[in-house]
Amino acid sequence: MEILKIKNLSKIYGKGETAVKALDDVSFSVEKGEFVAIIGPSGSGKSTLLHLLGGVDKPTSGKVYVSDTDIYNLNETNLAIFRRRQIGLIYQFYNLIPVLSVEENITLPLLLDGHKVDEQHFENIIKILGLEKRLKHLPNQLSGGQQQRVSIGRALINNPAIILADEPTGNLDSKNSIEIIDLLKMFNKTYKQTLIVITHDERIALQADRIIVIEDGKISKDEVTVK
Ligand SMILES: Nc1ncnc2c1ncn2[C@@H]1O[C@H](COP(=O)(O)OP(=O)(O)O)[C@@H](O)[C@H]1O
Ligand SMILES: [Mg+2]
Repeated sequence: MEILKIKNLSKIYGKGETAVKALDDVSFSVEKGEFVAIIGPSGSGKSTLLHLLGGVDKPTSGKVYVSDTDIYNLNETNLAIFRRRQIGLIYQFYNLIPVLSVEENITLPLLLDGHKVDEQHFENIIKILGLEKRLKHLPNQLSGGQQQRVSIGRALINNPAIILADEPTGNLDSKNSIEIIDLLKMFNKTYKQTLIVITHDERIALQADRIIVIEDGKISKDEVTVK
Protein backbone atom coordinates (compact mmCIF):
# COMPACT_ATOMS: atom_id res chain seq x y z
CA MET A 1 0.00 0.00 0.00
CA GLU A 2 1.26 3.42 -0.95
CA ILE A 3 1.31 5.71 2.08
CA LEU A 4 3.13 8.68 0.60
CA LYS A 5 3.02 10.10 -2.89
CA ILE A 6 4.98 13.17 -3.96
CA LYS A 7 4.19 14.70 -7.34
CA ASN A 8 6.25 17.35 -9.13
CA LEU A 9 7.30 18.94 -5.86
CA SER A 10 9.29 22.18 -6.10
CA LYS A 11 10.38 24.68 -3.49
CA ILE A 12 11.86 28.08 -4.20
CA TYR A 13 13.05 30.18 -1.26
CA GLY A 14 13.10 33.95 -1.72
CA LYS A 15 12.35 36.01 -4.80
CA GLY A 16 14.11 37.56 -7.78
CA GLU A 17 17.91 37.75 -7.73
CA THR A 18 18.26 35.90 -4.43
CA ALA A 19 15.78 33.10 -5.19
CA VAL A 20 17.06 29.59 -4.42
CA LYS A 21 15.48 26.55 -6.05
CA ALA A 22 15.90 24.06 -3.20
CA LEU A 23 13.71 21.33 -4.74
CA ASP A 24 13.20 20.93 -8.44
CA ASP A 25 10.25 18.87 -9.68
CA VAL A 26 10.66 15.85 -7.42
CA SER A 27 8.30 12.87 -7.67
CA PHE A 28 8.31 9.51 -5.87
CA SER A 29 6.17 7.21 -3.74
CA VAL A 30 6.76 5.31 -0.52
CA GLU A 31 5.07 2.09 0.56
CA LYS A 32 3.64 1.66 4.04
CA GLY A 33 6.30 0.23 6.36
CA GLU A 34 9.21 1.04 4.07
CA PHE A 35 12.53 2.28 5.53
CA VAL A 36 13.98 4.89 3.16
CA ALA A 37 17.32 6.64 3.56
CA ILE A 38 17.86 10.01 1.93
CA ILE A 39 21.46 11.00 1.25
CA GLY A 40 23.17 13.75 -0.72
CA PRO A 41 25.55 16.68 -0.36
CA SER A 42 24.93 19.50 2.07
CA GLY A 43 22.56 22.09 0.60
CA SER A 44 21.04 19.64 -1.90
CA GLY A 45 17.49 20.00 -0.56
CA LYS A 46 17.15 17.03 1.82
CA SER A 47 15.79 18.94 4.82
CA THR A 48 13.50 20.96 2.57
CA LEU A 49 12.06 17.72 1.20
CA LEU A 50 11.57 16.21 4.66
CA HIS A 51 9.79 19.34 5.91
CA LEU A 52 7.45 19.27 2.93
CA LEU A 53 6.66 15.59 3.56
CA GLY A 54 5.82 16.42 7.16
CA GLY A 55 3.50 19.32 6.41
CA VAL A 56 5.89 21.73 8.14
CA ASP A 57 6.48 24.02 5.17
CA LYS A 58 4.54 24.78 1.99
CA PRO A 59 5.75 23.80 -1.49
CA THR A 60 6.03 26.39 -4.25
CA SER A 61 4.33 23.87 -6.53
CA GLY A 62 3.46 20.18 -6.58
CA LYS A 63 1.55 17.85 -4.30
CA VAL A 64 2.13 15.68 -1.23
CA TYR A 65 -0.42 12.93 -0.64
CA VAL A 66 -0.42 11.00 2.62
CA SER A 67 -2.78 8.02 2.41
CA ASP A 68 -4.55 9.79 -0.48
CA THR A 69 -5.02 13.07 1.42
CA ASP A 70 -3.64 16.08 -0.44
CA ILE A 71 -2.09 17.59 2.70
CA TYR A 72 -1.48 21.11 1.37
CA ASN A 73 -5.14 21.27 0.44
CA LEU A 74 -6.06 21.06 4.14
CA ASN A 75 -6.77 24.27 6.02
CA GLU A 76 -4.29 25.36 8.73
CA THR A 77 -6.19 23.70 11.56
CA ASN A 78 -6.56 20.38 9.78
CA LEU A 79 -2.94 20.47 8.62
CA ALA A 80 -1.83 20.96 12.24
CA ILE A 81 -3.99 18.02 13.33
CA PHE A 82 -2.63 15.92 10.47
CA ARG A 83 0.94 16.73 11.55
CA ARG A 84 0.34 15.83 15.18
CA ARG A 85 -1.43 12.55 14.45
CA GLN A 86 0.30 11.19 11.36
CA ILE A 87 3.87 12.50 11.49
CA GLY A 88 6.67 11.97 13.99
CA LEU A 89 9.59 14.35 13.46
CA ILE A 90 13.08 13.82 14.84
CA TYR A 91 15.88 16.38 14.47
CA GLN A 92 19.65 16.34 14.86
CA PHE A 93 19.56 18.68 17.86
CA TYR A 94 16.49 17.07 19.53
CA ASN A 95 14.41 20.30 19.78
CA LEU A 96 13.18 19.47 23.27
CA ILE A 97 11.54 22.11 25.42
CA PRO A 98 14.16 22.95 28.09
CA VAL A 99 11.75 23.84 30.92
CA LEU A 100 9.68 20.67 30.55
CA SER A 101 10.61 17.32 32.09
CA VAL A 102 11.23 14.18 30.06
CA GLU A 103 7.69 13.00 30.78
CA GLU A 104 6.19 16.37 29.83
CA ASN A 105 8.20 16.62 26.62
CA ILE A 106 7.07 13.18 25.51
CA THR A 107 3.38 13.65 26.31
CA LEU A 108 3.16 17.21 24.97
CA PRO A 109 1.75 16.21 21.52
CA LEU A 110 -1.10 14.34 23.25
CA LEU A 111 -1.93 17.27 25.51
CA LEU A 112 -1.86 19.66 22.54
CA ASP A 113 -4.34 17.34 20.87
CA GLY A 114 -6.60 17.33 23.93
CA HIS A 115 -6.03 13.60 24.47
CA LYS A 116 -5.40 11.78 27.72
CA VAL A 117 -2.18 9.86 28.03
CA ASP A 118 -2.62 6.14 27.38
CA GLU A 119 -0.59 4.93 30.38
CA GLN A 120 0.06 1.51 28.89
CA HIS A 121 1.40 2.95 25.63
CA PHE A 122 3.43 5.58 27.51
CA GLU A 123 5.03 3.00 29.79
CA ASN A 124 5.73 0.74 26.86
CA ILE A 125 7.58 3.48 24.99
CA ILE A 126 9.50 4.63 28.08
CA LYS A 127 10.64 1.09 28.71
CA ILE A 128 11.77 0.51 25.13
CA LEU A 129 13.66 3.81 25.24
CA GLY A 130 15.21 3.02 28.64
CA LEU A 131 14.00 6.27 30.20
CA GLU A 132 12.13 4.85 33.23
CA LYS A 133 14.52 6.48 35.69
CA ARG A 134 14.71 9.83 33.93
CA LEU A 135 11.06 10.92 33.73
CA LYS A 136 11.40 13.90 36.08
CA HIS A 137 14.71 15.11 34.64
CA LEU A 138 15.05 18.18 32.44
CA PRO A 139 16.66 17.85 28.98
CA ASN A 140 19.91 19.56 30.09
CA GLN A 141 20.34 16.87 32.76
CA LEU A 142 20.56 14.18 30.08
CA SER A 143 23.24 12.94 27.69
CA GLY A 144 22.86 13.52 23.95
CA GLY A 145 21.79 9.93 23.38
CA GLN A 146 19.16 10.20 26.14
CA GLN A 147 17.85 13.48 24.74
CA GLN A 148 17.47 11.89 21.33
CA ARG A 149 15.54 9.02 22.96
CA VAL A 150 13.18 11.57 24.49
CA SER A 151 12.65 13.17 21.09
CA ILE A 152 11.89 9.72 19.67
CA GLY A 153 9.38 9.19 22.48
CA ARG A 154 7.74 12.50 21.66
CA ALA A 155 7.65 11.60 17.96
CA LEU A 156 6.07 8.20 18.66
CA ILE A 157 3.59 8.89 21.47
CA ASN A 158 0.80 9.54 18.95
CA ASN A 159 1.55 6.37 17.00
CA PRO A 160 2.26 8.26 13.80
CA ALA A 161 2.04 6.53 10.44
CA ILE A 162 5.28 8.13 9.26
CA ILE A 163 8.51 8.87 11.13
CA LEU A 164 10.71 11.55 9.55
CA ALA A 165 14.22 11.93 10.94
CA ASP A 166 16.68 14.62 9.80
CA GLU A 167 20.22 13.42 10.61
CA PRO A 168 19.08 11.93 13.94
CA THR A 169 22.56 10.65 14.74
CA GLY A 170 24.46 13.69 13.45
CA ASN A 171 25.28 14.84 16.97
CA LEU A 172 25.97 11.42 18.55
CA ASP A 173 28.96 9.13 18.98
CA SER A 174 28.97 5.83 17.12
CA LYS A 175 27.66 3.72 20.03
CA ASN A 176 24.67 6.01 20.55
CA SER A 177 24.14 6.30 16.79
CA ILE A 178 23.81 2.53 16.48
CA GLU A 179 21.38 2.40 19.42
CA ILE A 180 19.20 5.21 18.02
CA ILE A 181 19.02 3.64 14.55
CA ASP A 182 18.26 0.22 16.08
CA LEU A 183 15.37 1.80 18.02
CA LEU A 184 13.98 3.48 14.91
CA LYS A 185 14.29 0.22 12.96
CA MET A 186 12.56 -1.66 15.75
CA PHE A 187 9.56 0.72 15.66
CA ASN A 188 9.57 0.52 11.86
CA LYS A 189 9.43 -3.30 11.89
CA THR A 190 7.21 -3.83 14.95
CA TYR A 191 4.61 -1.14 14.31
CA LYS A 192 4.95 -0.95 10.49
CA GLN A 193 5.66 2.75 10.81
CA THR A 194 7.11 4.12 7.62
CA LEU A 195 10.59 5.45 8.32
CA ILE A 196 12.40 8.13 6.31
CA VAL A 197 15.86 9.08 7.54
CA ILE A 198 18.24 11.71 6.19
CA THR A 199 21.79 10.68 6.95
CA HIS A 200 25.42 11.31 6.08
CA ASP A 201 26.37 7.92 7.47
CA GLU A 202 26.72 5.27 4.78
CA ARG A 203 26.41 2.45 7.33
CA ILE A 204 22.98 3.76 8.30
CA ALA A 205 21.88 4.28 4.70
CA LEU A 206 22.81 0.69 3.84
CA GLN A 207 20.44 -0.61 6.53
CA ALA A 208 17.46 0.97 4.75
CA ASP A 209 15.26 -0.86 2.24
CA ARG A 210 15.92 1.86 -0.27
CA ILE A 211 18.29 4.79 -0.77
CA ILE A 212 17.26 8.01 -2.48
CA VAL A 213 20.08 10.35 -3.49
CA ILE A 214 19.27 14.06 -3.79
CA GLU A 215 21.60 16.35 -5.72
CA ASP A 216 20.88 19.95 -6.60
CA GLY A 217 17.21 19.64 -5.66
CA LYS A 218 16.61 16.58 -7.82
CA ILE A 219 16.59 12.82 -7.28
CA SER A 220 19.76 11.55 -8.94
CA LYS A 221 19.38 7.94 -7.80
CA ASP A 222 16.64 5.82 -6.22
CA GLU A 223 17.67 2.25 -5.52
CA VAL A 224 16.59 -0.72 -3.46
CA THR A 225 19.48 -1.87 -1.25
CA VAL A 226 20.88 -5.34 -1.72
CA LYS A 227 20.86 -7.26 1.55
N1 LIG B 1 14.56 29.10 4.95
C1 LIG B 1 15.38 29.20 3.89
N2 LIG B 1 15.51 30.36 3.22
C2 LIG B 1 16.32 30.48 2.15
N3 LIG B 1 17.04 29.47 1.64
C3 LIG B 1 16.94 28.27 2.25
C4 LIG B 1 16.12 28.08 3.42
N4 LIG B 1 16.24 26.80 3.82
C5 LIG B 1 17.10 26.21 2.96
N5 LIG B 1 17.52 27.10 2.02
C6 LIG B 1 18.44 26.80 0.89
O1 LIG B 1 17.90 25.75 0.14
C7 LIG B 1 18.91 24.83 -0.26
C8 LIG B 1 18.59 23.44 0.29
O2 LIG B 1 18.71 23.48 1.71
P1 LIG B 1 18.40 22.21 2.65
O3 LIG B 1 17.10 21.60 2.24
O4 LIG B 1 18.56 22.64 4.04
O5 LIG B 1 19.60 21.22 2.20
P2 LIG B 1 20.22 19.97 2.96
O6 LIG B 1 19.31 19.55 4.05
O7 LIG B 1 20.37 18.93 1.87
O8 LIG B 1 21.56 20.40 3.45
C9 LIG B 1 20.22 25.40 0.23
O9 LIG B 1 20.81 26.13 -0.83
C10 LIG B 1 19.80 26.31 1.36
O10 LIG B 1 20.71 27.36 1.53
MG1 LIG C 1 19.67 19.40 6.10
